[in-house]
Amino acid sequence: MVIMTDRYAVIGNPVAHSKSPLIHAEFARQTGESLSYEPLFCELSGFEAAVMRFRDEGGRGLNVTVPFKLGAYELSEHRTARAESALAVNTLTLGHDGIGGDNTDGAGLIRDLTQNLRVALLAKRILLMGAGGASYGVCGPLLDQKPVLLVVANRSLDKASALCRHFDAAHTRSTEMRAAPYDELTGEQFDLVINATSAGLANAMPALPVRLFAPGALAYEMVYGKATPFMQFAQREGVRTADGLGMLVEQAAESFYVWRGVRPQTAPVIELLRDSGK
Ligand code: ATR
Repeated sequence: MVIMTDRYAVIGNPVAHSKSPLIHAEFARQTGESLSYEPLFCELSGFEAAVMRFRDEGGRGLNVTVPFKLGAYELSEHRTARAESALAVNTLTLGHDGIGGDNTDGAGLIRDLTQNLRVALLAKRILLMGAGGASYGVCGPLLDQKPVLLVVANRSLDKASALCRHFDAAHTRSTEMRAAPYDELTGEQFDLVINATSAGLANAMPALPVRLFAPGALAYEMVYGKATPFMQFAQREGVRTADGLGMLVEQAAESFYVWRGVRPQTAPVIELLRDSGK
């Protein structure tokens, strides 16, 4: 008898560095789910064909990483509300009812903040830095937590304003939401500052003023695995910092739940990745 394991993969370019295969292998081992999960490199112009081929070979689901999250959104035949709000898809389900698109990035961030880091967001003042795909992914779920203020700061103010307009109608009843350039943040204080820019990857950081953090604030860096200039800045300002490793594992757990209906334990996997320096 041939036992078929369900196939999943993370598709991206590049993808070799991805920790998702390791994370999902741990989830599968822990929950006893029978599945395989592999990295799937894809040429920039070949995304749709690669998804179709994977589906035709029996693939059940894909995580989608750079630069294909928008392509995955467009390819999805039905989408969840959180994928619609993010305008991007990081989780594809290849089912009998067509290609389903979801986005688990925002849920991953909220779970890391509220469950792992024990930060309550209700009535808090949040600064979100960046107005690219990463910010679109988390803005809706952040607003769902009903902070009192959400300021979106970006070098290019137009992009921050467009992001605020996109989320305005749906969400902002209990939250004041506005766009700002970095140099207008002087004198403001926030309980949570999230770096959703890609600056840390290039060893840079947005031009933040000092004394931006309220007492007890948390500085959250979405980049993981390195002490970025933003994290060093926050440490000099004397506040607690967190990197994006927890969000990475939590968004993976949410995808696993979407596919399998089983919620894996995340704490041991976060610990494993941190201990192994992976
Ligand atoms: P992602 O999908 O990771 O969000 P993106 O859509 O390319 O990537 O967006 C990158 C974000 O990082 C943008 O908000 C960008 O700011 P601009 O729109 O002003 O370019 C921000 N960013 C990148 N490098 C930065 C730097 N050195 N300082 C400040 N912001 C930076």
